Amino acid sequence: MKKSQLLLWVLALLMLWGCAGDQQDLPADAQVPLEEETKYVALTFDDGPRRSTITALLNGLRERGASATFFLVGEEIEGNEDLVERMAAEGHQVGNHTWSHTRLKGAPAAEVTDQVCRTDEKLRQVLGEGEYWLRPPYGQLEEDQKPLIPVPMVQWSVDSRDWESKNTEKIVAKVLKEVKPNSIILLHDIYPTSVEAALKIVDTLQAEGYWFVTVQELLALNGIQPQPGVLYRSGDKAE
Ligand code: NI
Repeated sequence: MKKSQLLLWVLALLMLWGCAGDQQDLPADAQVPLEEETKYVALTFDDGPRRSTITALLNGLRERGASATFFLVGEEIEGNEDLVERMAAEGHQVGNHTWSHTRLKGAPAAEVTDQVCRTDEKLRQVLGEGEYWLRPPYGQLEEDQKPLIPVPMVQWSVDSRDWESKNTEKIVAKVLKEVKPNSIILLHDIYPTSVEAALKIVDTLQAEGYWFVTVQELLALNGIQPQPGVLYRSGDKAE
């Protein structure tokens, strides 16, 4: 080996040593991406709880470290309390989707209040005190009905139309086409095709650097202070 080659080798070794040293000196949390570079998204699931489909979904979300939000139909909770407890225990947000999946838009005030409060009481029985946000069935409410709702409300910005196609590939394709950072994605965990699609969506978007958070977390990450009676459509804006 020539002297000049030897010098190059020594230099290269010194550089390697330097890099390794730098890495060791980094703080433990240095791998966490900067907040402005991180993409957040919220998966939301309506119309449950349904025992036949939820276990696969909760297992899949847990394996992937993904959080989601579940809007539950009050009359479906009876007998499924353990599933609701598991959702909350595993870091998911649990919300209200009325007692019997009633279209609230245009309904009398007494009915709106009854539908929302009965479900709220049931959720408190199962999960304890807390604020259980509302997703009105079909996502709609008249302007003059909004003051009846004592909690923030959640709309969506990406509609998977999963109930319509019940086709895993179509659901995945539609969501991936429309999703962007801060999206709120609408799915229904009562269909096996939706559960399968949801986990594929998580796998694909996690590989693209997305983090799956609850709606409450998504709004907080964007500096939004949720107000009662306001419908939130995404992490970027209200209705
Ligand atoms: Ni629904």
